[in-house]
Amino acid sequence: MGIQYYEKNRVFKLDTPKSTYMIGIVDEENFIGHIYYGKTIIDTDMRYLMRSEEIVPSKNNRDRVSFMDSLPMEFSTHGIGDFRESCLSVKTKSGHSACSLSYVSHEIYKGKPLLQDLPATFGDEKDCTTLELTCEDKSLQLRIVLVYTVFEALDVIARSVRVVNVSKEAIYLTKVLSACLDMDNKDFDMLTLYGLWSKERMINRKRITDGKQMISSLRGVSSHQEQPFMAILEPDANEDQGEVFGLNLVYSGNFMAQAEITQFNMLRTAIGINSVDFSWKLETGESFTAPEVVLVYSSEGIGGMTRTYHDLYRNHLIRGEYKDKKRPILINNWEATYFDFDTDKLLSIAEEASKVGIEMLVIDDGWFGTRNDDNCALGDWVVNENKIKGGLKHLTEEVNKLGMKLGIWFEPEMISPDSDLYRAHPDYAIQIAGRTGALARNQLVLDISRKEVRDAIYCSLSKILTDANIEYVKWDMNRALTDLGSICLAEDRQGELYHRYVLGLYELQERLTHDFPHILLENCSSGGGRFDPGMLYYSPQIWCSDDTDAIERLRIQEGTALIYPLSSMGSHIADCPSHSNGRSTPFSTRGYVALAGTFGYELDITKIPKEDRDMIPEQVAMYHKYNDLVRNGNYYRIASYHDNHEYDCYGVVSKDGKEALITYIQVSARPNYRTRRVYLKGLLKDTIYRIEETGEELSGGALMYAGINIANMWGDYLGKLIHIVAI
Ligand code: DGJ
Repeated sequence: MGIQYYEKNRVFKLDTPKSTYMIGIVDEENFIGHIYYGKTIIDTDMRYLMRSEEIVPSKNNRDRVSFMDSLPMEFSTHGIGDFRESCLSVKTKSGHSACSLSYVSHEIYKGKPLLQDLPATFGDEKDCTTLELTCEDKSLQLRIVLVYTVFEALDVIARSVRVVNVSKEAIYLTKVLSACLDMDNKDFDMLTLYGLWSKERMINRKRITDGKQMISSLRGVSSHQEQPFMAILEPDANEDQGEVFGLNLVYSGNFMAQAEITQFNMLRTAIGINSVDFSWKLETGESFTAPEVVLVYSSEGIGGMTRTYHDLYRNHLIRGEYKDKKRPILINNWEATYFDFDTDKLLSIAEEASKVGIEMLVIDDGWFGTRNDDNCALGDWVVNENKIKGGLKHLTEEVNKLGMKLGIWFEPEMISPDSDLYRAHPDYAIQIAGRTGALARNQLVLDISRKEVRDAIYCSLSKILTDANIEYVKWDMNRALTDLGSICLAEDRQGELYHRYVLGLYELQERLTHDFPHILLENCSSGGGRFDPGMLYYSPQIWCSDDTDAIERLRIQEGTALIYPLSSMGSHIADCPSHSNGRSTPFSTRGYVALAGTFGYELDITKIPKEDRDMIPEQVAMYHKYNDLVRNGNYYRIASYHDNHEYDCYGVVSKDGKEALITYIQVSARPNYRTRRVYLKGLLKDTIYRIEETGEELSGGALMYAGINIANMWGDYLGKLIHIVAI
């Protein structure tokens, strides 16, 4: 394991438990070529894979362009004959864009560096080894440092890039992706997550065909529509076997990820910040760091990739007091009251909730300024005492007296044109002088690339958080960025705004989590519009979707859990008929589905049917019984109703393999049917387990290879939990 440099052959070999990644220095010009990524290989010289000699008939008379256009590259550059997607492109003062990289030096060390101003996975000297490959373009005097960190216990390689201007004049970076990955095409498939508001992260698998297939965001957020994630799959890879290469960008703004089949039947995958509307002026001596991309290799199919991402993100990305802790069961008043609430209403909800074991009340949108609908007041983070009579401190004390915590909603990045903040500082909004900016949800976006804007917002937020005993914050963000313009950026720096916005966001959340470490932070963006690893670095959980219908949630949560741990998925039991689609599902089923995430309630507990309310103590007990397992265990997709149209089934198995919880939801009942055979996963084959509900005792082998029978239930949308424990 670790990283070795074989000097004679000029080869770097990066080994994780089950994968090998190889880089070679090619030719007298010291190009950085990509040799291999895949299953562990013991050989140290496989330079033949780069075919560099095939393309260079003679050293003195070579066809330079065809060489550059076919050499598998570690970090492709623009304008020098590699016509595939480039990772790096520049504009010099004289207007030129060509750039070429040659190896200069390297360093291998234990541990993992922090990324300047950016979220990233972390690990200490026993977890990680890092290679820093320094390259340069001599004529531009640009230094590029390619950083690779290998995690010793996981099949993960984290890559990032640092560009340093060592010349005497400024240079503009017009594109800096985080990585490309070149390999021979094996008729690969690609796996991505697409969606829309209220239907985020739908799994999409398709064959990669000739040309370029790209996913991207230009919304200023990672988006509901696409995830900064792409996996490359061998054509016969499935849930349990076959090679899968995952790429996930630790970034929350505009991105692109692309798979490209080239003329020589090679695949180039590239991922990073979207270069549309991007440009960065790098002054002499300055550096620019591109976000980290997390490569995961799995030879155990898509499920193997999922479990590696979960382990990595749980242990090496998510931080803070709640990293490894059970989260309080909350009740959020959004779907209960929307904007129509006051202290009495909130306390009546809290009182009922406290009786059944709910642990925290979260006041959603509408407690501040004059906000009684979504037309106004964003930015005015002062308590509306007409609604919150006696103020937040009083409300918190009353809620605390009930034995509950209090949480609160903010949308710190926004400003309503109808707000005191806008009236005082219209220039705080992102805007282009002379152009009327587009409103979305009647709001504009604050220019948080500016420190004074961040300071003003942070000051009003922290006052609220200091004045009352607030123990949870929901940080919402409800519109995409448009009409990009910042009054504080010079003409030739306007292209920096999208990225500076994201850096401003990260700086704000770093401040908040640093100053209020006891607060549980949940990110949110119109539901799940910014559910990405960047945000997970600051908040251990993210609201998954505004669609709270349990059946829709099955697919949303399945897609989310493709990469992100169950412990990070904000999931609530909501009212019925569902506010999302009018569907009614049993209260018990809503509980089973919410159990796969953070688990909470979002309904008016004072109004729901008595039989539902009576079920809550049982659900609360179920959460306390299973949450350690759900938060920490290995997650297995067993069946998806998206594929079979009838039922959904997934399991979580404890790390020692001795306990498992299977969730089975019968989405659509079948006539004339007795039992369905379901094959469990991830158990110890020779261990005997007892099925808690029936008392049956069977080996892990029987449960996995022969399966269990699940009786057909009478009706749609019914579910059950199957808890099995080794004896
Ligand atoms: C969008 C969020 O996803 C909802 O949960 C809720 O907080 C609303 N915003 C409030 O405006």
